[in-house]
Amino acid sequence: MNSLQAWRALPAAQQPEWPDAGAVQAAAAQLRTFPPLVFAGECDSLKARLADVAAGRAFFLQGGDCAETFNGVGADALRNKLRTILQMSVILTYAGSMPVVKVGRIAGQYAKPRSKPTEVRDGVELPAYRGDAVNGFPFTPEDRTPDPDRLVRMYHSSAATLNLARAFVVGGEADLRQVHAWNTDFVRDSPVGERYDRMARDIDRAISFMHACGADPAEFHSVDFYASHEALLLDYEEALTRIDSRTGLPYDTSGHFLWIGERTRQLDGAHLEFARHIRNPVGVKLGPTTTPQDALTLIERLDPDREPGRLTFITRMGAGRIRDALPELVEKVTASGASVAWVCDPMHGNTFEAPNGYKTRRFDDVLDEVEGFFEVHRALGTVPGGLHVELTGDEVTECVGGGHALAEADLVHRYETVCDPRLNRAQSLELAFLVAEMLHRP
Ligand code: PEP
Ligand code: CO
Repeated sequence: MNSLQAWRALPAAQQPEWPDAGAVQAAAAQLRTFPPLVFAGECDSLKARLADVAAGRAFFLQGGDCAETFNGVGADALRNKLRTILQMSVILTYAGSMPVVKVGRIAGQYAKPRSKPTEVRDGVELPAYRGDAVNGFPFTPEDRTPDPDRLVRMYHSSAATLNLARAFVVGGEADLRQVHAWNTDFVRDSPVGERYDRMARDIDRAISFMHACGADPAEFHSVDFYASHEALLLDYEEALTRIDSRTGLPYDTSGHFLWIGERTRQLDGAHLEFARHIRNPVGVKLGPTTTPQDALTLIERLDPDREPGRLTFITRMGAGRIRDALPELVEKVTASGASVAWVCDPMHGNTFEAPNGYKTRRFDDVLDEVEGFFEVHRALGTVPGGLHVELTGDEVTECVGGGHALAEADLVHRYETVCDPRLNRAQSLELAFLVAEMLHRP
């Protein structure tokens, strides 16, 4: 057994109960014959940019669906999502006077950890939906039975999505003037647009000034964009791991950036063991029960050489916990001399069930957690490195609040997520303007 398979000897949380182990092996064997989705050199470039994030020279923005779906591979949804991320990034770049490192929860985010292995409806118990990479969302025995052929579909869906994303970000979609024009439209049409008008005008003047000076660098017409997902299904991730011919080192070529989730970050577990051996930049989600010793052990295991940009901690404490739970972690990690990128996920600690049964989040809680994140880092003199958000570019009704004051009764209109509730386009742009104010503040 080589080191890339060492995880197999350890307990792996949240793996599906595949009915036929042979079929999983067959799918993995097929995946091994496919070309890589991303290249090692791209992963290294992202790692270098994450080193900038850790040092406060760049801001990280990671966003996309909680769970992508095979049917959601359509061009419109992807374009709207990418536009939204690019629009947010222009606002944040201006406010922080820093480059923004743009990473999608895109082209691979097809597998979900679940709090319960089964779901019961009207007395019928079936396996829980674990993402399109594992089983189908409809509540039927056929759909819910894990099917390893889906691992192969995951690869093809990721490839199609990534292909389109790569084309979008070098085409007109990423043109700075165009992206800014969309932001201006948003500010004009938003019921609370007045609040953001000043910054939008400032950006307008900055762009006009540069053009008047004759500045029109290639960077204004295309952007770097990276793909990421939770490295949950280790059979898939192992099968996509390849040895880089330049360096002889292993990279998980399923995505540029992989993270380990809150439910699979056990110190003696398989996910950590797998992530140790790949050379991609990696993240770990840290919830409110994380102890400073957990964080230090994660650093020791995942980044023993203290490689700049290698490790990102994505904290997801909840608005009510962030101000108590984060300081000690940041203090102890900083005191250890390690340098990690600290990123705020203001979504996963703020989920609740509305009385009408919809799983939702309040825009104000999301914003409050980000505020708390900035407060803690400002007080400690450390770097609030970025944001990790669940969002879509469509006008869905999944999170309550925001400028349109979406109410719980509105959730029924366009609740389309198959997993967690996402910020819609307007809520995402508003969040960017409000975080921009935080970045701008001395
Ligand atoms: C997620 O990012 O969708 C997720 C499941 O997060 P966490 O691991 O932080 O709960
Ligand atoms: Co989620």
